[in-house]
Order: sequence, then structure tokens, then C-alpha cells
Amino acid sequence: MAKTVKIGKSDVVSTPLGLGTNKVGGHNLFPNLIDEQGAEVVRAALDNGIQMLDTAFMYGLGRSEEIIGNVIKDYDRHQIVLATKAAQDPHQELKPNNQPQFLTKAVDDALLRLRTDYIDVFYIHFPDKDTPKYEAIGALEKAKEAGKIRAIGVSNFSLDQIKEANQDNYVDIVEGKYSLIHRDAEQDDFAYLKANDISFVPYEPLALGLLTGKYKDAKAFGEGDWQYDHDSANFSGDRFYQNVAAVEKIRPIADRHNVSVADVFLAWYMANPNISVVIPGARKPEQVVENAKALDLRLSEDEYQLIDETFKG
Ligand SMILES: NC(=O)c1ccc[n+]([C@@H]2O[C@H](COP(=O)([O-])OP(=O)(O)OC[C@H]3O[C@@H](n4cnc5c(N)ncnc54)[C@H](OP(=O)(O)O)[C@@H]3O)[C@@H](O)[C@H]2O)c1
Repeated sequence: MAKTVKIGKSDVVSTPLGLGTNKVGGHNLFPNLIDEQGAEVVRAALDNGIQMLDTAFMYGLGRSEEIIGNVIKDYDRHQIVLATKAAQDPHQELKPNNQPQFLTKAVDDALLRLRTDYIDVFYIHFPDKDTPKYEAIGALEKAKEAGKIRAIGVSNFSLDQIKEANQDNYVDIVEGKYSLIHRDAEQDDFAYLKANDISFVPYEPLALGLLTGKYKDAKAFGEGDWQYDHDSANFSGDRFYQNVAAVEKIRPIADRHNVSVADVFLAWYMANPNISVVIPGARKPEQVVENAKALDLRLSEDEYQLIDETFKG
């Protein structure tokens, strides 16, 4: 049986590999997305042993959730772990809103779009400035008591904000930016999360494609490219080439196991005790099939350490 992980203090259990779906219907974030291809991406995940689907209202302002809702009606709902997020308020220019009333309605709206009667993990996508965090979490605790959600999460919260949100011990899971080339969470968050039985899901685990090994030339990136606009420091100059060199140092491990370098990095996250579920995004179903091979990849201790050290330098 495939390895599974338990989410925080909840009874949600998932395979350690999930799917990020910001390119499933996320037309407001990325150009040239095709909805039918997005649906194929979701099907490829569910057909290849992936349980957690990580979506959000923000991905297409509901479109990603709708595409997922349409696909999952053909599958056994109990084999799927649905994770979604809300905070961006369409009535306030998409500024974060954590007011209990807003979050309560956001849960109900997401249930309708996902065509389901429960959501496994519901995250507050971004903190707002004014709402006391325990009040926001209190709204989600009520949704949990009502059986509408099964686990409570926060995303893009600083450690102080996580602590405030967790003052009643209700937070099960945190989603934050983390990859082998963005390692701040190791210093900032991991000790507190572990001590408080809170799971961690890293977003952008493939560093927007850098850790797939497919990029070689910094000149391919500039203003207007979504990767550069998102992370210009790593997609330009010396840093870009340092990243490429680090990935190439790991390529022999991929060759030895007959998998892609992306699979090696995904297996590294899955072997990392600080990480719960890893949710690489995908534009095409073939990428999902390739990434799902990581579920069967076991790195040796030496391989694990080499990857760790290569990306610390
Ligand atoms: N909570 C938050 O605020 C937040 C923020 C960002 C993301 N997220 C979540 O985290 C998920 C993961 O982050 P991400 O998708 O932005 O970045 P990522 O996982 O680092 O990179 C995913 C991208 O890499 C490329 N890729 C994936 N597998 C590949 C393969 N096998 N071969 C070649 N290219 C491959 C695809 O892009 P191309 O084909 O276009 O190159 C894919 O869209 C998102 O989908 C979303 O669910 C959450």
C-alpha cells in the first residue's frame, strides 16, 4: 500500500504527493491555459496515485474549483483529498478578507463549485490586516463542526501570524513558499510546526520549473515572463546559472534511478520529515505522469544528503 501522511490533528490522510492546480483554470494568473487540458491534468493525477488536489478560489476566480468539481464526479470522492483556499474578496478588488462572515460564505461557495458536501482542507489563502486571527480561525472551526471542512489551514502567514491563528490549537496545516532554492521556512517555521503537530505543504516546490532541469539559458527570461516576474532573482544573472549547475549536479542520481530530475527533487521532499504533502503544479497531463513516478522513488541516505548540501551552498 502507498505511504500516506496524516494532516495535523485532523483525521485527513493523503498520499504524500499531491497536485498543484494554479494552471488548471487559472486564466487570471497565466496566459494561454486550456480548460480541457486542465481537466486532463486532474484526471492524470487521480489515475496515477495522487490524492491531494490543491486549488483556490484565486485560480481563475472559481474556475479551477469548477473544473475539479466536474472531474471528480467520475471518481470515488473518498479517495480524493480536496484542499482549497480563499481570502481574496471579489467585492474589494481581491484584497484579503479574513472576516468570519466572508470565510463562512467562502466555504459554502467552494462546496458548490467543487460539487461536494465536504472539503478536506480549507486554507485562509492570505492574512488580512485587521481581523484577529483567532476570529478567522473560529469561523473555520465552526465550518469543521458542521462537517463542511475536515482540516483547517493557513497560507502565507508569518510565524507570528501562525502562532496567533493557532492560539486555540485549531490549525492543522500551513502552506508556505518552500523549495530547495527557497529555504527560509527551515529557520522560520519548521520547529514551531513540528512542536504543535501542524503539517507543512511547500508551494512552488519545483521553483517554477527551475528544478525540472529544463531551463538552461537566462536570456530566455525577462520582464513579461511569468517566471521572471515572479522570481527575478533566481531567473536572471549568476543566480540563475548557479541554480542550473546545482540541478545538473543532481542529474546523475536521476539517471541512476531512470527518472527525471524533477522526480528526484519530489522524492527528496517526500523523504523530508518536515514536509507533509508536496504539490507540484502542472500544465500538461504528461508532466503529472512523469512527476507521479516520484511516489515509487526511494533515495539513499547519501543521495538525500548530497541534494541537501548541494542546495545549501
Ligand atoms: N498558497 C499560495 O499562495 C500558493 C502560491 C503559489 C502556488 N501555490 C500552489 O502550489 C502549487 C505548486 O506551485 P506552482 O505550480 O506555482 O510551481 P511549481 O510546482 O514549482 O512548478 C510547476 C510548473 O513546473 C512545470 N513542470 C511541472 N512538472 C514538470 C515536468 N515534469 N517537466 C517539465 N516541467 C514541469 C509546469 O510549468 P510549465 O509547463 O508552464 O513550464 C508547472 O506548472 C500550485 O499549483 C498551487 O496549487 C500556492
